[in-house]
Amino acid sequence: MTTTTVPEFQHRTVLLDEAVDALALDGARANGVFVDGTFGRGGHSRLILSKLGPDARLIAFDKDPQAIATAGQITDPRFTIVHDSFATMREALAERGLNKVDGILLDLGISSPQVDDAARGFSFRNDGPLDMRMDTTRGMSAAQWLATETEQTLEKVIKEYGEERFAFQIAKAIVARRAVEPISTTRQLAGIVAGAVKTREKGKDPATRTFQAIRIFINKELEDLEVGLNHAYDSLAPGGILAIISFHSLEDRMVKRFFASKANVEQPDRRLPIRAVDLPQPELKLLSKMKPSDREVDENPRARSAVMRVARRLPIPSLQEGA
Ligand SMILES: C[S@@+](CC[C@H](N)C(=O)[O-])C[C@H]1O[C@@H](n2cnc3c(N)ncnc32)[C@H](O)[C@@H]1O
Repeated sequence: MTTTTVPEFQHRTVLLDEAVDALALDGARANGVFVDGTFGRGGHSRLILSKLGPDARLIAFDKDPQAIATAGQITDPRFTIVHDSFATMREALAERGLNKVDGILLDLGISSPQVDDAARGFSFRNDGPLDMRMDTTRGMSAAQWLATETEQTLEKVIKEYGEERFAFQIAKAIVARRAVEPISTTRQLAGIVAGAVKTREKGKDPATRTFQAIRIFINKELEDLEVGLNHAYDSLAPGGILAIISFHSLEDRMVKRFFASKANVEQPDRRLPIRAVDLPQPELKLLSKMKPSDREVDENPRARSAVMRVARRLPIPSLQEGA
């Protein structure tokens, strides 16, 4: 058995109380089944456990072996950790005999320990091997991908996932440099990008967008979110709550559209002879959209881009509604 050591980097949980409150862990729901799809260092999971009743279950997921090692320190019998993407939620729950759950939280993106530990290769500030995988046990590192990808795909990824205006120039510079030497460290890549980006955005390192794009691509973040949203929706019991915290516009747009597609059901022409019971019904009720307070952002600047959207699965059973 291999043991994963967890370096001492802290993660400050964003929207901690707000996200846990959104799951409404009171009344009969306190003994329900809940999912934390992004365990991280367990800030949300620990608070959820502290509020749950003795018969509740909390199933958490993370792709990162260090997150899994941290979760291994929780000995609470109500808690289970799964080393996999939340995009496998439906099967993972079914394997544990849990088909429907009462609430799901996704706190997307990367954790502070992943960024702060130079050895993980996510940071353009600290030099480290260009890895960027959340799950270091599988898949291709950023260095391997940059060494082999076509210039056209590099440009497409950097443009779409980084919303980077200079994607063409950056892709060209990467391809030119890799013909001379392997691109294997974060500072090396940051330098190549800085040389290709012609204008500077105030307060933003020129490598920010490119690093974000490569990270999203390497970790299949948007694919996982798309699949994960469907798994989460299918796994929710009527009355179940889905709370999602996203950190950039690509994610938030996807969450917003998914919620809207289930909540805003187009009604047929009123003049058609359709019985009321046969009319399409909304399947989600939008409950809230929230951002961290100014105080939270002052204390934790990484919270500044967070947006949480919360929705409830319909129909709401009368039993749980009164709970
Ligand atoms: C923002 S952090 C979560 C922090 C956590 N809420 C806490 O309080 O410590 C995001 C975490 O989700 C994990 N992650 C991101 N995408 C994932 C996915 N598709 N499946 C499972 N874990 C994922 C990352 O590895 C990271 O540990």
